[in-house]
Amino acid sequence: MKGFWNSRSIIPITLSFLFLFTAEFAAPARHLCHPVQRDALLKFKNEFKVKKPCFDGILPKTESWAVNTDCCSWDGITCDTKSWEVIELDLSRSCLQGRLRFNSSLYKVKNLTNLDLSYNYFSGRISSSIGNFSHLTSLDLSKNYFSGSIPSSVRNLSHLTYLDLSGNDFIGELPSFGSMNQLNFLSVESNKFSGNFPHSLHNHGTLSELDLSHNQFSGTLPSNMSSLHNLEYFQAWDNSFNGTLPSSLFTIPSLTYVDLRDNQLKGTLEFGNISSPSQLTVLDLGNNYFTGPIPKSISKLVNLQDLDLSGLNTQGPVDFSIFSNLKLLQLLNLSHLNTTTTIDLNAILRSSQSIFLLDLSGNHVSTTNKSSGANHHLQMVSDLYLSGCGITEFPELLRTQHKLTNLDISNNKIKGHVPGWLWRLPTLKFVDLSYNMFIGFGLSSLSKPSMQYLVGSNNNFTGEIPSFICDMRSLITLDLSSNNLNGYIPHCMGNLKSTLSFLNLRQNRLTGDLPNNTFASLRSLDVGHNQLAGKLPRSLTRFSTLEVLNVKSNRINDTFPVWLSSLKHLQVLVLRSNEFHGQIHQASFSTLRIIDISDNHFNGTLPSNYFVNWSAMSSLKTNKDRSKEKYMGDIFGYYHDSMVLTNKGIEMELVRILKIYTALDFSGNKLEGKIPRSIGTLKELHVLNLSHNAFTHRIPSSMGNLTALESLDVSQNKLSRDIPQELGNLSYLAYMNFSHNRLTGLVPGGTQFRRQQCSSFEENSGLFGPAIDEVCRDIHTPPAKQQPETPKPEEENEEVLSWVAAAIGFGPGFVFGSTIGCILFSCKQEWFMKAFGRNKRRSSAMLKSRQAAKSRRGQ
Ligand SMILES: *[C@@H]1O[C@H](CO)[C@@H](O)[C@H](O)[C@H]1NC(C)=O
Ligand SMILES: *[C@@H]1O[C@H](CO)[C@@H](O)[C@H](O)[C@H]1NC(C)=O
Ligand SMILES: *[C@@H]1O[C@H](CO)[C@@H](O)[C@H](O)[C@H]1NC(C)=O
Ligand SMILES: *[C@@H]1O[C@H](CO)[C@@H](O)[C@H](O)[C@H]1NC(C)=O
Ligand SMILES: *[C@@H]1O[C@H](CO)[C@@H](O)[C@H](O)[C@H]1NC(C)=O
Ligand SMILES: *[C@@H]1O[C@H](CO)[C@@H](O)[C@H](O)[C@H]1NC(C)=O
Ligand SMILES: *[C@@H]1O[C@H](CO)[C@@H](O)[C@H](O)[C@H]1NC(C)=O
Ligand SMILES: *[C@@H]1O[C@H](CO)[C@@H](O)[C@H](O)[C@H]1NC(C)=O
Ligand SMILES: *[C@@H]1O[C@H](CO)[C@@H](O)[C@H](O)[C@H]1NC(C)=O
Ligand SMILES: *[C@@H]1O[C@H](CO)[C@@H](O)[C@H](O)[C@H]1NC(C)=O
Ligand SMILES: *[C@@H]1O[C@H](CO)[C@@H](O)[C@H](O)[C@H]1NC(C)=O
Repeated sequence: MKGFWNSRSIIPITLSFLFLFTAEFAAPARHLCHPVQRDALLKFKNEFKVKKPCFDGILPKTESWAVNTDCCSWDGITCDTKSWEVIELDLSRSCLQGRLRFNSSLYKVKNLTNLDLSYNYFSGRISSSIGNFSHLTSLDLSKNYFSGSIPSSVRNLSHLTYLDLSGNDFIGELPSFGSMNQLNFLSVESNKFSGNFPHSLHNHGTLSELDLSHNQFSGTLPSNMSSLHNLEYFQAWDNSFNGTLPSSLFTIPSLTYVDLRDNQLKGTLEFGNISSPSQLTVLDLGNNYFTGPIPKSISKLVNLQDLDLSGLNTQGPVDFSIFSNLKLLQLLNLSHLNTTTTIDLNAILRSSQSIFLLDLSGNHVSTTNKSSGANHHLQMVSDLYLSGCGITEFPELLRTQHKLTNLDISNNKIKGHVPGWLWRLPTLKFVDLSYNMFIGFGLSSLSKPSMQYLVGSNNNFTGEIPSFICDMRSLITLDLSSNNLNGYIPHCMGNLKSTLSFLNLRQNRLTGDLPNNTFASLRSLDVGHNQLAGKLPRSLTRFSTLEVLNVKSNRINDTFPVWLSSLKHLQVLVLRSNEFHGQIHQASFSTLRIIDISDNHFNGTLPSNYFVNWSAMSSLKTNKDRSKEKYMGDIFGYYHDSMVLTNKGIEMELVRILKIYTALDFSGNKLEGKIPRSIGTLKELHVLNLSHNAFTHRIPSSMGNLTALESLDVSQNKLSRDIPQELGNLSYLAYMNFSHNRLTGLVPGGTQFRRQQCSSFEENSGLFGPAIDEVCRDIHTPPAKQQPETPKPEEENEEVLSWVAAAIGFGPGFVFGSTIGCILFSCKQEWFMKAFGRNKRRSSAMLKSRQAAKSRRGQ
């Protein structure tokens, strides 16, 4: 579609160029472009900045827009060849940044037929003046930061054939498309639209592509989908559509692509009268709530190349031979079918001719070759996901899988050594061996340059980190956490300095110093829970991409690493439980969101302006991230940073660290003097723990400015005077602890104070007031339980997601914009269940296979 417009626009541009050329010689120069339009365009240009650096080698199109030139010759402009009016404006990929105002001059360039603002940094809302572009046939606003709802005046764009609003922050319901009866392409993917399926599309016989994916749509899909009788692509993944899958969809003869995964569709799968021959090549129905058998009619979908039925609750036996009728199948995701049948991997690979991605995770899979003849031809796959398949021995049949690129064999019961031949498979890039009982790598040296992602966490790997890892010159992620590894971190790992981004060696028995190599690409280093000693290597300052540094629970003996403030991306710093000592010198950690330096020997006082330059905790907007990924880790979701944090008085594991989560833990040191008044600037702080120190004087009233605070612990200090009344206004503050101080006076009366345990106030010099009377009324019936009840066990726990942590970690995201009264823990639990409960059946393998499949499709 895009290519079509572009090629058409070449002609007028060339023509106007010719005119310009002749004009050079035939003075006086004559401009073809209308001055009103030229002036409007120049004004429009000046409304925005060009964000530098722009995309590689691309000049922003507006660069050629100069005052005394013919606007018909400018980049991105096409004029009508008769009237010389500007009819096309294509500013895609021009790095333009700024708010599109309601009074923008853009709206003065009327009579446009094509408007393309895609792939820029435009923000702001769309004015209802958009409806004045009544000649528009193509409107592309995709991949920007536009927000607000779509004005209903777009209804007036009745000539539209192409409408792309994808990849913005639009909200609200979709406008009516009733009058756009020539619409051919409609994408609103990746926004925050809500409401029902756009029923105004009913009878749009011209529509061939409809993409509603990754929004918040709900309700049912229309039962008469067949009225869209030229539909080819239908995508609505990651919404909350419920009800059943309309079988009328499959009667549309042109239908080639259906992706409805990650919704709440239920009922049994029915394909009805499948149009014959079926053109359908992609059918993704994974991660819904479908139950019952796989319909036999699936074998009529003879052109299927990609089939995803993951999470289909078959509740009985499955005949896996039906898939052998689908001769063109390349991607097959049958994970988590809750079937009583054991899947014979051999049989599937023997009968398939084209599968290269196979996901059988969460089913019982047998990998032994039962048929005696052996040496059958087996299909070569590149992606194999066998997570949680009850496998007890490393599958020998993989030995000959010379095309294997991605292997996930995590969450099985495999013992002993990884077979040495695995590392010799020529194209292997991604291996997940986690959660087995491996003890060795089966190899000590081998050059394996292709490996990019090696996860061996939660096994029983013993001995030293094998040096062959140093030869994996493409390694991006190495996770060997929770094993039994000892010895030094090999210095040869410096070989990986230009690729390694995520290194997790937590929870082993490693000794010696942290290596002093410079890892130029490292984004996350976690060596917590080992026996490392010495000082933090000063070479860390040369890890300019470092975002996470976690050295928790080692024996590192050093002073406060104020020099780390030179790391311009550092977001998480954990020094907890080491031998750090001395003063915490003032530094400006402008990107730091989580700092935990608890249980060390820091001493001295903190100046009152100590926190003034900690800007990420004051305002999170500096972290706005185009990727929209919510968690710390790689953008593919293969690797997530995790950590343990004391929050609300209990240790909690953040299995995934939200990018908007903030915490400050200075507890268990020997800090003294006043709590710095500048603490009040950390307006985004969620968790503050200053307990077990020797702070004195009054709690600063500026703490009343910490409006995001959920957990406050200042217990076990020498704080005196009263608790500032300002704290009574902190409406998210669900947990606080003031015990073991010298506090006196009236306890603030806010609701939050009345929900604490009596012990949060005990051992002080003279606190009083109605709040304390209430919570300490009857010491035998403690008020407002803090600790949540044990959650009901999930049927599967692939996510290994401590739900408590999840509630904490995810809480804040949902707290924003929610009603203020809703700060009870149970409330959060509900939010968590709403947001993540429905994904609980999703295994990480499924995500991975999806990504792999998508990237393949993109190629
Ligand atoms: C649009 O309105 C803003 C104020 O809201 C003003 O500053 C700006 O100059 C106006 N721009 C144009 C092009 O009129
Ligand atoms: C736009 O088109 C209308 C008719 O469709 C015409 O009257 C008008 O002159 C054109 N130009 C501008 C600048 O509005
Ligand atoms: C758009 O049209 C409406 C009336 O249809 C008019 O009031 C408004 O001024 C127009 N906007 C622009 C920017 O011309
Ligand atoms: C849309 O069209 C209707 C008539 O069809 C007109 O009354 C209205 O002003 C138009 N709105 C805009 C914003 O152009
Ligand atoms: C679908 O969800 C809505 C709430 O979003 C609910 O009112 C409706 O009853 C549900 N329909 C079905 C068929 O489950
Ligand atoms: C799986 O299927 C069995 C019947 O085979 C059923 O009893 C069970 O509830 C199903 N599990 C889930 C999680 O639905
Ligand atoms: C781990 O391996 C060691 C020997 O290498 C063995 O002594 C220990 O029992 C194993 N632990 C587990 C949990 O299998
Ligand atoms: C880095 O460490 C190695 C071995 O641990 C040591 O030989 C070398 O001197 C150190 N280099 C620097 C600059 O500290
Ligand atoms: C830390 O190192 C210093 C020497 O640099 C030493 O005096 C001190 O005892 C060490 N502290 C601990 C707790 O090991
Ligand atoms: C802090 O502790 C160090 C020992 O680590 C000591 O030399 C110093 O005097 C202490 N400073 C203060 C202010 O207590
Ligand atoms: C706290 O907020 C008030 C007003 O909102 C402001 O006057 C005061 O300076 C703030 N204090 C700190 C330490 O940020």
